[in-house]
Amino acid sequence: MHNPLDLTGKTILVTGASSGIGRAIAILCGQLGARVVLGGRREGALRETQAALPNAEMHRVEPFDLTAMDGIPAWITGVRERAEAPLDGLVHSAGLSVTMPIRVANRANTDNLMIPNVYAALGLLRGFSAKGVAAGQSSVVLLSSVASFDGSPGLVTYAGTKGAINGIVRSAAKELGPRRVRVNAIAPGYVETPMYHEMKATTPDAVITKLEEEHFLGIPKPEEVAVMAAYLLSDAARVVTGTMLVIDGGYSA
Ligand SMILES: NC(=O)c1ccc[n+]([C@@H]2O[C@H](COP(=O)([O-])OP(=O)(O)OC[C@H]3O[C@@H](n4cnc5c(N)ncnc54)[C@H](OP(=O)(O)O)[C@@H]3O)[C@@H](O)[C@H]2O)c1
Repeated sequence: MHNPLDLTGKTILVTGASSGIGRAIAILCGQLGARVVLGGRREGALRETQAALPNAEMHRVEPFDLTAMDGIPAWITGVRERAEAPLDGLVHSAGLSVTMPIRVANRANTDNLMIPNVYAALGLLRGFSAKGVAAGQSSVVLLSSVASFDGSPGLVTYAGTKGAINGIVRSAAKELGPRRVRVNAIAPGYVETPMYHEMKATTPDAVITKLEEEHFLGIPKPEEVAVMAAYLLSDAARVVTGTMLVIDGGYSA
């Protein structure tokens, strides 16, 4: 039976593959037939993801700290060479979320979120679009958030990083479209990942109860976000670019 999400023959780089959404995306891509390159800082955790993939030895672990923005293009070129194949897809799921009020939004705290969430995304786009790195038709997926368009106290900095992603996606889609590189975003509400549980641990119970009620179809699971990524990476999304898919249990409806 034809599977429109089939990724057989594609090589896909996933950042944040050591945890949460990135790990779920990496595993689904492998289950759909892709060769997956796993990015993140913690090699041990990346190896755990690799072990969860079908044909584990077919996939590569490529630890890298994405705070080194100017080093990202050289890292991606190396990834492409070691994979011995051009990259058909890139998912940037690495990122940080910190709840903090405006009064502590100093340079260091802002850099702490901007660098992995935004600067890394730009470095990855730069590396992916360099000559000889990406395949003839390819797809980039960046993780945004409903926080980028639906306000919450304490999230100004994080929301700013995700608003930047939405803008980057639209312009990158137009700049790279002539080269058949599609660029899209996924905007989840809260997702059942370590990031969500860390947020829960530092947030009053009443706020969490309200948030969970507002996700009236339920808090999405990382595996459900992964299906959206697989769609955007697949040939089924051949004519989809510059857009943002929302998955939030109805939170922002
Ligand atoms: N969970 C949610 O509720 C939610 C909602 C909306 C949007 N999102 C977005 O979805 C994405 C994934 O979130 P998640 O919940 O899966 O987070 P997570 O479970 O906390 O995982 C974050 C990932 O980012 C990687 N990472 C962080 N800093 C890095 C750096 N400097 N260099 C390389 N890798 C780095 C981590 O890997 P290492 O520790 O191995 O480096 C880890 O794999 C993020 O962009 C997040 O903003 C999440």
